Amino acid sequence: MPEPVKSYDRLAGWGAIVTGAGSLGEGIGTGKAISLLLAREGARVALFDLDHDRAAETRDLITGQGAEAKIFTGDVTDGEACAAMVEEAVQWLGRLDILVNNVGMGAGAGRLEAIAPAAWERGIALNLGSAYNMTRAAITALLAGEGKAVVNIASVAGVLAHGTASYGPAKAAMIQFTREIAVMYGREGLRANAVLPGHIMTPLVERFASPDARETRRLIAPLGVEGDAWDIAQAVIFLAGPEARFISGAILPVDGGVTQIAPLAAYEALTGESMTR
Ligand SMILES: NC(=O)c1ccc[n+]([C@@H]2O[C@H](COP(=O)([O-])OP(=O)(O)OC[C@H]3O[C@@H](n4cnc5c(N)ncnc54)[C@H](O)[C@@H]3O)[C@@H](O)[C@H]2O)c1
Repeated sequence: MPEPVKSYDRLAGWGAIVTGAGSLGEGIGTGKAISLLLAREGARVALFDLDHDRAAETRDLITGQGAEAKIFTGDVTDGEACAAMVEEAVQWLGRLDILVNNVGMGAGAGRLEAIAPAAWERGIALNLGSAYNMTRAAITALLAGEGKAVVNIASVAGVLAHGTASYGPAKAAMIQFTREIAVMYGREGLRANAVLPGHIMTPLVERFASPDARETRRLIAPLGVEGDAWDIAQAVIFLAGPEARFISGAILPVDGGVTQIAPLAAYEALTGESMTR
């Protein structure tokens, strides 16, 4: 998708926090795209990232367009760090309307025997604990804001097994965490929703996906289109904004349809060989 250019100022005056707001390399990762679109809609954006320089690229793109963003550096797997960063960010934002829990990645590859307990725990901390830490730290400020929106970036790996020891299980738990938050705080007007990215081309994926792997990923989904970070960001912007006021607890795959296709139909799409008709 080409970089979206329109801005509608839908979120003028709103404050947002995005975790993992930098990108792991050249190009546009999910947190960067989400931060840029939030800013274009008029929100002030607090950029949370482990790495100041990565977040600085996002900040410079935002401020270069005349919008406001500030970096808060720290590890979102650390609950105390999250509490301190959120306190500072809320002071700067003035008010908090949107929290996007975007940090997540695999930790340790291979079968169970190859994955040491520390690597497994890191996977759970990155993909589930981070959302707990951040939502817990931000909830009081969120409930005092106007938007009252939490958007969690889970994965299709949370609903379909890929043979991962911690990534898929943590993403599945993040999906359920989203529903639990929706129920826990619904009466106070807070909405919590999850976006499930499918096969998305981001700087992180570019590091390990060969051209053949990319082509296979593209072909296996019904749309036959390669997704990018803008596709995810557009869904997040909708779920976070006022038009989604009646949507909570939703689990939205943004995946070209890959979670809906039967394995045999996917085989057909890849090989052209007819298995089902
Ligand atoms: N890329 C895909 O194909 C794909 C598919 C499904 C789900 N997802 C999910 O989408 C989300 C975004 O993935 P992405 O690859 O676009 O990454 P991203 O580009 O959005 O985020 C990368 C940033 O996160 C920061 N970060 C990493 N660990 C951190 C930590 N502990 N604390 C603070 N910051 C940290 C890094 O420094 C980096 O700047 C993840 O939750 C991922 O699991 C991605």
